[in-house]
Amino acid sequence: MTIKIVNFDLKYIEKLIKLDLELVDKYKTKYSNEQWNEKNFSKELPKKFQFSKIIINKINNDEKLIGFVIVSDKNEFKDQEIHIHRFGIAEEYQFRGYGKKLLEELIHICLSENFNSITLNVNENNYSAINFYKKNHFKKVGKISDNLKMKRDLV
Ligand SMILES: CC(C)(COP(=O)(O)OP(=O)(O)OC[C@H]1O[C@@H](n2cnc3c(N)ncnc32)[C@H](O)[C@@H]1OP(=O)(O)O)[C@@H](O)C(=O)NCCC(=O)NCCS
Repeated sequence: MTIKIVNFDLKYIEKLIKLDLELVDKYKTKYSNEQWNEKNFSKELPKKFQFSKIIINKINNDEKLIGFVIVSDKNEFKDQEIHIHRFGIAEEYQFRGYGKKLLEELIHICLSENFNSITLNVNENNYSAINFYKKNHFKKVGKISDNLKMKRDLV
């Protein structure tokens, strides 16, 4: 068994769609109102393929997807801000530090590429995710309908 973080790659698309659906089914609107389909995951967004990361557990010859952070440079060429679109860890792997590891990896790349901040939107009822982000130094910076906008400054 080897757990490793690798770059987001479309060869994992079926596993990504499956895990995303599991999280939508489990957490409903707290996580997201809609599952992401192939079109969502394959859409080319600025910096997405460079910065988005997934976490894999290799058991014998099988690669199990255990988490993902899908991001893009939402304000390309201004603000230097990376936006998290999708973030999830498979239920049976939660609370073992993998979410934090993925986030640290993302922060590491953002710092080396001189990004100033990371933003995300989270449902206001998703207390566990909000706690997780607060513990990881994100702050509430606004609210759009039932979503909190959170931000972590890197400089
Ligand atoms: C939110 C999520 C990504 C966190 O990932 P995780 O791997 O379980 O979190 P970690 O084990 O890395 O936790 C890191 C820290 O956050 C804390 N934390 C994690 N989940 C928490 C929870 N439910 N309540 C309170 N604190 C929590 C941990 O205690 C840990 O703190 P520590 O570093 O002081 O020990 C994961 O729970 C998840 O996928 N949730 C469902 C999907 C979702 O809601 N995604 C967010 C959409 S915006």
